[in-house]
Amino acid sequence: MTDDPIIFAPLEGITDPLFREVILELYPEWSYVYTDFFRIPPEGRVPKARLISHMGESIYKNQHLRDKSPFQVLASPTSQTAQCGEVLEELQIPWVDLNVGCPSKKVNAHHGGAWLMSEPKELEKILYSLRNNYSGLLSVKIRSGFKDDSNFNEIIKIVEGEGADLLTVHPRTKTQMYLGLSDWSYIARAKKQLTIPVIGNGDIHTPEDVDRMKRETGCDGVMIGRGGVANPGLAALQRNIKNSNDSSIFLTSFIKKMEIKHAEEVCLKRLKSITHYLFDGEKKSLLLRSKTLSDYRSFL
Ligand SMILES: Cc1cc2nc3c(=O)[nH]c(=O)nc-3n(C[C@H](O)[C@H](O)[C@H](O)COP(=O)(O)O)c2cc1C
Repeated sequence: MTDDPIIFAPLEGITDPLFREVILELYPEWSYVYTDFFRIPPEGRVPKARLISHMGESIYKNQHLRDKSPFQVLASPTSQTAQCGEVLEELQIPWVDLNVGCPSKKVNAHHGGAWLMSEPKELEKILYSLRNNYSGLLSVKIRSGFKDDSNFNEIIKIVEGEGADLLTVHPRTKTQMYLGLSDWSYIARAKKQLTIPVIGNGDIHTPEDVDRMKRETGCDGVMIGRGGVANPGLAALQRNIKNSNDSSIFLTSFIKKMEIKHAEEVCLKRLKSITHYLFDGEKKSLLLRSKTLSDYRSFL
């Protein structure tokens, strides 16, 4: 991992390969841009092609972009974790992250994501499988807890003890979903108790927020989700590098890439799902009412 990284967070439904390609091309100031989660299935071998397609073929084929793309997996106690780890290793994926934060009912019912915060022993076994079959950089992204924070200290020790190279903390419990403010004191707590690097995540919207999180928690780097969608130029701003933070430039490139691959209604649906993060007021409602891509373009 590079020093003092600014990392674009995994966002299911948003950070698909096309979205990430545009971020990586237009905003090289992001140190890393995570894939969203790949669910490791309970049976059968995971084909290489599925993993490559999840990362995005053109990203995978470009060593520099591949190096900037941590690959997130979602595993439950019945997943083929060891076998998937082997394939990730064969594919020379440089960084794999385990999702221990997803709050979705469906994911938790299948004993994945944040559910693992409530079952430290199961997390330990999954991490053991991954670590023993994958030798690249291995990280874990956790919440502060499932219903409460009672397992937090035990979980972070397991992450370190099972050989993960770094930890990201999104300090909300699963019950809090994405509501209210995240409690950064958990990031500071992890930083004090562990020797591996700790990445802080939650509610960063400005360069000042980045500085404040580092100052208050001592974290080794930051991860930004919704604030990055709202302002893809945030990493450049933080580094004092001149780059556009105009969302229309981002969206125009994104539309160009999308319309080559997808039907108009698919493109519009994708655009509308990120419009919520990007705009307010009159502009937002105009964009959300677009019936065609050309409407959307003209309202931009
Ligand atoms: C729409 C959406 C999708 C998300 N998908 C993922 C995901 O696939 N994997 C993951 O670890 N976290 C996921 N998260 C959580 C974010 O990565 C991040 O931890 C959270 O949004 C807090 O950071 P932020 O305040 O900077 O957005 C998602 C969050 C949102 C809002």
